[in-house]
Amino acid sequence: MKITVIGAGNVGATCANVMAQKELASEIVLLDIKEGFAEGKALDIMQTATLLGFDTQVTGVTADYSKTAGSEVVVVTSGIPRKPGMTREDLIGTNAGIVKDVVTNILKYSPNAIIVVISNPMDTMTYLALKSTGLPKNRIIGMGGILDSVRFKCYLSQALNVPASDLQGVVIGGHGDTTMIPLARFATYNGVPVSTLLSADALNTVVSSTMVGGATLTKFLGTSAWMAPGAAGAALVESIVRDEKKIYPCCVSLDGEYGQKDICIGVPAIIGKNGFEKVVDFKLNADEQALFNKSADAVRSMNGVLKELNLL
Ligand code: LAC
Repeated sequence: MKITVIGAGNVGATCANVMAQKELASEIVLLDIKEGFAEGKALDIMQTATLLGFDTQVTGVTADYSKTAGSEVVVVTSGIPRKPGMTREDLIGTNAGIVKDVVTNILKYSPNAIIVVISNPMDTMTYLALKSTGLPKNRIIGMGGILDSVRFKCYLSQALNVPASDLQGVVIGGHGDTTMIPLARFATYNGVPVSTLLSADALNTVVSSTMVGGATLTKFLGTSAWMAPGAAGAALVESIVRDEKKIYPCCVSLDGEYGQKDICIGVPAIIGKNGFEKVVDFKLNADEQALFNKSADAVRSMNGVLKELNLL
């Protein structure tokens, strides 16, 4: 099993590091365009192998896609991260061209790869990867909802003062500060609805903190987050390579599910060896569906920019 991560920045290197610790593959290739950068990150990870007890070989390469040949899964983290005050959508002008080149290069050497997109604005980058490659839709998965859901559970655990691992919660919609939809109605503390344990105000605060979860970290750090994004990417890859069939909120191509078509956006999906194997399409209430439609409109208008940039 071989996995490639494109982009050895904070998110890419963290994702490779977590995947190595979980021994998700015998080989992980980390590729970056900055000379020596991926080599350095890979060597640093390899020097933890005896401390942490893993046998995965992590190799760094500078821009040489031939070294990624035969990868079963490729994680795309390329592009610039946001700075404080920026939205994920502000990155489209820089990142879209990069992501399009990256996916073209990946497929030259790994024509059967499943591609996981993390670069922002993620929903639009996932759509670009799907449309520009023409790959079957199950092989292109955007990672956003997993991250937003773990942030949702983290804020819920703080509000309830209970372990996050006892919480269930799902965030659907776009991976944007105003487009994501934490589904508070379905969040539970081991099956007990959290709406019975928290006041409406407290629950609303959790929802709004989740929505700006990434922006809050960007303000603290001066750049966007990487620990949770990297680990969330690794969790998604794990469900693919171990064929776990986990249900994760992921950005996938919809064909009528949730009333939407010709869009990639976050919905619960079953993830296994074929990529996303099924969208779990359950009935939202009228308010949730209205929010979902509004989120889809915003993502669709961002996708329209790809045509203006002559990328589609
Ligand atoms: C975040 C970025 C990775 O939400 O989208 O932190």
